Amino acid sequence: MGSPEKPLRRSQAWFGREGKQGFYYRSWLKSLGVPHDVFDGRPVIGICNTWSELAPCNSSLRELAEHVKRGVYEAGGFPLEFPVMSLGETQMRPTAMLFRNLASMDVEESIRANPIDGVVLLMGCDKTTPALLMGAASVDLPTIGLSGGPALSGNWRGRPLGSGTGVIQMSEKVRAGQLSQEEFVEAEACMQRSKGSCMTMGTASTMACMVEALGMSLPENAAIPAVDSRRFRLAHLTGRRIVQMVEEDLRMSRILTSAAFANAIRTNAAIGGSTNAAMHLLALAGRLGVPLTLQDWDDIGSKLPCLVNLKPSGKYLMEDFYYAGGLPAVLHEIAGELDLGTITANGRTLGENIAEAPCWNREVIRSVDAPFKPEAGIAVLRGNLAPDGAVVKPSAASPHLLRHRGRAVVFENIEDFRARIDDETLDIDETCVMVLKNCGPRGYPGMAEVGNMPLPPKLLRKGVIDMVRISDARMSGTAYGTVVLHVSPEAAVGGALALVRDGDFVELDVPGRRLHLDVDEAELQRRRGEWREAPRPARGWARLYVDHVQQAHLGADLDILVGGSGDAVGRDSH
Ligand code: FES
Repeated sequence: MGSPEKPLRRSQAWFGREGKQGFYYRSWLKSLGVPHDVFDGRPVIGICNTWSELAPCNSSLRELAEHVKRGVYEAGGFPLEFPVMSLGETQMRPTAMLFRNLASMDVEESIRANPIDGVVLLMGCDKTTPALLMGAASVDLPTIGLSGGPALSGNWRGRPLGSGTGVIQMSEKVRAGQLSQEEFVEAEACMQRSKGSCMTMGTASTMACMVEALGMSLPENAAIPAVDSRRFRLAHLTGRRIVQMVEEDLRMSRILTSAAFANAIRTNAAIGGSTNAAMHLLALAGRLGVPLTLQDWDDIGSKLPCLVNLKPSGKYLMEDFYYAGGLPAVLHEIAGELDLGTITANGRTLGENIAEAPCWNREVIRSVDAPFKPEAGIAVLRGNLAPDGAVVKPSAASPHLLRHRGRAVVFENIEDFRARIDDETLDIDETCVMVLKNCGPRGYPGMAEVGNMPLPPKLLRKGVIDMVRISDARMSGTAYGTVVLHVSPEAAVGGALALVRDGDFVELDVPGRRLHLDVDEAELQRRRGEWREAPRPARGWARLYVDHVQQAHLGADLDILVGGSGDAVGRDSH
């Protein structure tokens, strides 16, 4: 067990033991039907699975794990699948984001505590991807990602129906009296009509693209539909590859360099990706000690064009994206903007991976010369209302609102918003700026996706489809509009957002990157003196989270989770 000329494989600190310890470590695994020679030093591959019926987007992952195992066995490895906390975006209350860091702790400790040499991360729904990447990064074993893939295109009455985006559009029609409740319910079964994640360029698809652009998966990972046989082939190949990665000692930290993050930020612009990617990649970089700031998102990515004509900003869906060439075709198109020398999970450089990556449909994936939108990415705003920054996605905003001054209509929290937004007597018109407080990391808690506030019905009936909205919340990647998000510091820690009052004037200047509350400093000081922090949760995870969560501009990780602890465990358990 363990050849003397090679360094001892990590799992051999468990399985290569003699005496009582070795007995413990091997015997119980033999109850799975494992022959003794499997403990001979071959790579042990942990398959970290977020399958759950409470995370329906990840419901294909059990089957996918079996295909990964085939590849692992074929390459001479020993696969061991293990469950970790899953995060169903549509089911969890108050928001799945409250649990991203908790799931990452589960992942980190499950990997480190167990006899694992390499890891395959099975993920899909929005928060599962960053949670797994963050947790695994803090251990830093050889690791490869495999996304579950998007669901087949939604279709209702002969027309495409995109995940999330369709719900938002249709619910506004119901509120405006243009769609019946019966039609709305009928559409429920027509949207998510197969296993897989949201098939718009929402957060799940964005994060799958980030995984691929970072180099953390095999090429084509982002877009192959969940139920397409090529997804299972990719799983098989991923299983084969992780065994080689262990042999090569190709760890996450060698892949996730500053250059890889810069590639991902540029990619996010080119795909018209979700603002949530900024939060998640900032947190991931923090685990690895890679210097990345919110401002980098603007500096690196905001001048790039959006090439991908997908909902929520465009017309098509992920299935169309895959058939058009998927992410490799996009990366090939923006190759001039990328660092092509970054190493990826297959051991090749990004440049080698995308050298031959044709586009088969220029309507879906546009060229740099004739982009879908000229300047995309994420704009970072600053000013007295957001000293540490706020974000807006210009490609999803209305051009006429990118420079706007309006009267604030303030909602103290989400309950206040829901209680008053449908009130016909609410003093609001389309020139107003809707301001929502106390929905940030600490305030909600968990920073819910409520920043794209629905518009008042009386304005919807007038044909108003967008207004400036500002909050410390996040927004679903499937949403759209002139929505300023992630205001930092948030209202719940006494940020300037907490001081805004009805009737104040707010100035938004996206080209000038400015977010200003037009109230003089003396008055703001007076209001600051009146502000009081809300009581914290009494116990449990919510208390731990609120006590330790960082602000949005840092990625909302817990301060005690930043960085990593490596893979070493000094003590035996018996
Ligand atoms: Fe799970 Fe969109 S809700 S991927």
